[in-house]
Amino acid sequence: QDLTPIKDVYQDDFLIGNVVSVEDMQGVRLELLKKHFNAATAGNAMKPDALQRTKGVFTFTDADKLIDKTLAEGLKMHGHTLVWHQQSPAWMNTTEDAGGNTIPLGREEALDNLKTHIKTVVEHFGNKVISWDVVNEAINDNPQTPSDWKASLRQAPWYQAIGADYVEQAFLAAREVLDEHPDWDIRLYYNDYNLDNQNKSKAVYNMVHEINTNYQKNHPGKLLIDGVGMQGHYMVNTNPANVKSSLESFISLGVEVSITELDIQTGSNYQLSEKLAEAQGYLYAQLFKIFREHAANIGRVTIWGLDDGTSWRASTNPLIFDKDLQAKPAYYGVIDPD
Ligand code: XIL
Repeated sequence: QDLTPIKDVYQDDFLIGNVVSVEDMQGVRLELLKKHFNAATAGNAMKPDALQRTKGVFTFTDADKLIDKTLAEGLKMHGHTLVWHQQSPAWMNTTEDAGGNTIPLGREEALDNLKTHIKTVVEHFGNKVISWDVVNEAINDNPQTPSDWKASLRQAPWYQAIGADYVEQAFLAAREVLDEHPDWDIRLYYNDYNLDNQNKSKAVYNMVHEINTNYQKNHPGKLLIDGVGMQGHYMVNTNPANVKSSLESFISLGVEVSITELDIQTGSNYQLSEKLAEAQGYLYAQLFKIFREHAANIGRVTIWGLDDGTSWRASTNPLIFDKDLQAKPAYYGVIDPD
């Protein structure tokens, strides 16, 4: 196939990313990755349970190999993720009571675990990454009072152990490391999904606004949270107008925005009719048109998977290449959104 590289189409706009795992870094999959993409996110290799499954024992070997290979192949690397309620070891923020029930860890111990993990990991990878998802998915699914972002926080273990300021504490810990390395150029992101939901995006807006405003009292003109990542796990009937309105609201915060995990569930049971494939292609096109119109404020658009066969939601055919790595209408929507 003599396809136009996606990264060439958007070279003046933003980075074009995809997910990487060790298996992707060879053969035809590596060729496809290198041809179209110039940025990468580790699908699992840099998550808390991969890096510090046991307290105090950091296991960097696999992630290091993956990152070094990715960089050697010419792609930039984004760090994902430092603080999350999934794929994180229980010891970080929970313990057991006398009856063997899981309960939240005390605030001080949990804070210490949070900060140690963040500082060690950020320091270790250093300038090999261009950005970090410092906190992932802290806001709940459909906030009823988005004006009160603290009431909109997910009842996650970190929240239960530390309280609402765990988000700010996480960014402060990461920022502290970066302040010690003025030569590093790394953006700190808050990342979440379903931000086309206007209630959820308002809660995120209010959270980032308040945390950055607080920080600026002592650090005039500086940001604590540099960016908002809109994951973008969409459905074929997602309304692009909602994506646009959230995107514009985040841009108005003065932060960089990235689309961090784009895929569009279409069809089911691994079946995709021609009609739905076209609809999917049209939505990819509409979204990329919006992204391009806001390119000045977008750092990166990352698609969450190389092909439908290896997608985390493979049965819903969400990606731009099919399981045989052939371009779908979605690919053509991406390269020619107008
Ligand atoms: C997914 C990975 O793609 C899967 O391989 C893994 O089994 C589960 O996690 N939001 C995120 C990503 O921030 O880390 C998730 O990735 C998808 C949802």
